[in-house]
Amino acid sequence: MEKVLNIFDQLKISHEKQRELSNKLIQTSGNSLERKELFKNLKNELFAHAVAEDRFFYIPLMMTDAGLDITRHALSEHHEMDELLEKLTEMKLSSPHWLIIAKKLTETVHHHLEEEEHKFFQQAGKILDDKSKQQLAKKYHSEYLKYLDKNKTSLT
Ligand SMILES: [Fe+2]
Ligand SMILES: [Fe+2]
Repeated sequence: MEKVLNIFDQLKISHEKQRELSNKLIQTSGNSLERKELFKNLKNELFAHAVAEDRFFYIPLMMTDAGLDITRHALSEHHEMDELLEKLTEMKLSSPHWLIIAKKLTETVHHHLEEEEHKFFQQAGKILDDKSKQQLAKKYHSEYLKYLDKNKTSLT
């Protein structure tokens, strides 16, 4: 029988993509097509993941007293990543500062994923029951796919 993915399994699939894309991004240089493509893909990935994760993981957790603190912490890190993405979007790819900010983004992403996987998920695992873990996984996944597609056509 096929294993039913819970919300944690599902979130980790995108986490792996984020790790891979951000690691590759900081190996790129100047105004290259490679940098442009990797940045677009990472931005799409982070955006679709954060929207779906906020809606179908953190918001339900926020409704519980025990989940309030993790949610606040995580959402502020999402905001921090958004700001770095915005900075990078506004900067010229060839700017010498671009890589410095990209490295900062990569560090922030890695730190955030580490904290989610090793701290928040454990805490959330005690708060959510098995049925919710599976239902949220489905809802998260379709929302994630919806935004991933939307972004591919709207971003240049
Ligand atoms: Fe995440
Ligand atoms: Fe997150």
